[in-house]
Amino acid sequence: MRPLKSYKKDIPLKGEITVAGDKSISHRSLIFSALAHGKSKISGLLEGEDVLKTAAALRLMGVEINKEENGIWNVNGVGVAGLSEPSDILDMGNSGTSSRLMAGLVCPYNFTTFFTGDSSLRKRPMGRVFEPITEIGAKIVARQSNLMPFAVIGAKNPMPISYQMKVASAQVKSCILLASLIIRGTTTIIEPEKCRDHSEIMMRYLGLEVDVEELKDGHGSKISYSGLQEFDAKNFEIPADISSAAFLIVAALLVKNSKIKINNVGINPLRDGILKTLIEMNGKIEVTNKRLVGGELVADIIVESSELKGVDVPAERAPIMIDEYPILSIAAANAKGITKMNGLAELKVKESNRLLMIAQNLEKCGVDFKMGEDFLEVVGGIKNQPQKLVNIITAMDHRIAMSFLVMGLTLENGVEIDDSEMIHTSFPTFEKIFTNFGCPFEE
Ligand code: S3P
Repeated sequence: MRPLKSYKKDIPLKGEITVAGDKSISHRSLIFSALAHGKSKISGLLEGEDVLKTAAALRLMGVEINKEENGIWNVNGVGVAGLSEPSDILDMGNSGTSSRLMAGLVCPYNFTTFFTGDSSLRKRPMGRVFEPITEIGAKIVARQSNLMPFAVIGAKNPMPISYQMKVASAQVKSCILLASLIIRGTTTIIEPEKCRDHSEIMMRYLGLEVDVEELKDGHGSKISYSGLQEFDAKNFEIPADISSAAFLIVAALLVKNSKIKINNVGINPLRDGILKTLIEMNGKIEVTNKRLVGGELVADIIVESSELKGVDVPAERAPIMIDEYPILSIAAANAKGITKMNGLAELKVKESNRLLMIAQNLEKCGVDFKMGEDFLEVVGGIKNQPQKLVNIITAMDHRIAMSFLVMGLTLENGVEIDDSEMIHTSFPTFEKIFTNFGCPFEE
C-alpha cells in the first residue's frame, strides 16, 4: 500500500506533455503481432502492468517478445494458429481486458488454458465471455457465479457463431473476434450499441477482411469475419490514451491559469465522449492536427482552465466514455449546476463498483449527489468544504485513485488516497507528470 496526498496549491499546470500509450490498442497490438507472420515493432506501447500481463501470457504460449533499449517492442509472430498450450496459469493481475481477450483467443485451440487474477479481477463477471466461448464449442470450468480462477478447455471442432451481444462491451466483441481468427466459416457479432472498435481497425490495418455493417436502427452494427486468413507482420505506433489524458484535461480545466497541450492523443469517435461532454460543459478544449495513424484517428489537444457548467450526459454516450465517469464526476463536482449521468450500470462491474466508489468518495469531499442503479446526478460546487484531509478509499481501482488525486487539487485541506500502487496498471507516468508541473503529490 502506498498512500498519496494532493492539495489545492493553485500552481497552474503549463506546458506540452505526452501521456502513456493507449491501453486497449497496446493489448491488441501485442496480440495481433503475436499471430502475424514475421517480426513487428511496436512504438509507444503502454508499459502498464495490465499490458505487461498480456505480453507475459503470450510468452507462455510460445511468442517471443522483447524490448529494445530505445523503447521499441519486438514481437516475433507465430502465425494465426501458431500458439502453443501455456505451461502455467495465466495470471492476468488486475486486467479484465487481458482476461477476456485471451479467453477468446485460446478457446478454438485444442488445449487447456488456466486463468487467474488479483482480488479485484476475481470479483469481476466472466460469464459474458463464457457464453459465446461455449457456443463456439469450448468448455469452461469456473468458480460459482462464473468467477476467476477458470479454465478454458479449447474446442476440438470450433464452430462459427452468430452472436447477439447483451452488454455494450468491446471486451466481449474482441473476445469473439479473436476466437474467429482460427474458426473455419463466418462468425457474426451483432452489437446493439457500438463500442470501441480498435480490434476491427487493427484487423483492417493488417489487411484482414472484416465486414462491418451499420444496423438500420442507427445505433448498432453487425460484424462478420471468416477465419483462417493469414497475415504478415506490420509495425505499430500506439497513440496516447484518451482515458489517461482525461485526468490531465480535467486537472487543467479546474486549476486556475492552466494551459497544457497533450500530444498525439487517440480520439477514435468511439472513445471521445469525454471531450464532447467537457466541451458541452464549457471546457476550453481545442482539438488540432487531426490525422490517421495505423487507421486510428489521432490529434493534439489544447486545454485551458475554464468555468464549467453542469450538463445532461445521455445514456447512449456511456459506451464511448465508459472509463471516464470517475474523472467526469470530479469535473461535475467543480462545475456550476447539476450534471446528470445516465446509463451507468456497467460502472458497477469495473475494477471496483465505480458508481458506488465515486459516490462514497464524493460524499466525503462534501459534494451533494443523487445515485440510482444506473445514474448519478452530481450537484456542482462543493457545498460543505471538508475541514480536514479527506481519506479516499480506492478499492484497488486505478481510475478512482487518479480521479480523487485530481479532486484533491480543488480542496483546501486536500485528500489522501489509501493506495496509489494500482495507478501503474494503466498510467505509470501519472505522478511524474504532476511532479514535472511543479505540483507533486505527497507521500
Ligand atoms: C476495453 C473495453 C472497456 C473498458 C476497458 C478496456 C477494451 O471494457 O472499460 O478499460 O480494451 O476493450 P468493456 O468493453 O467491457 O466495457
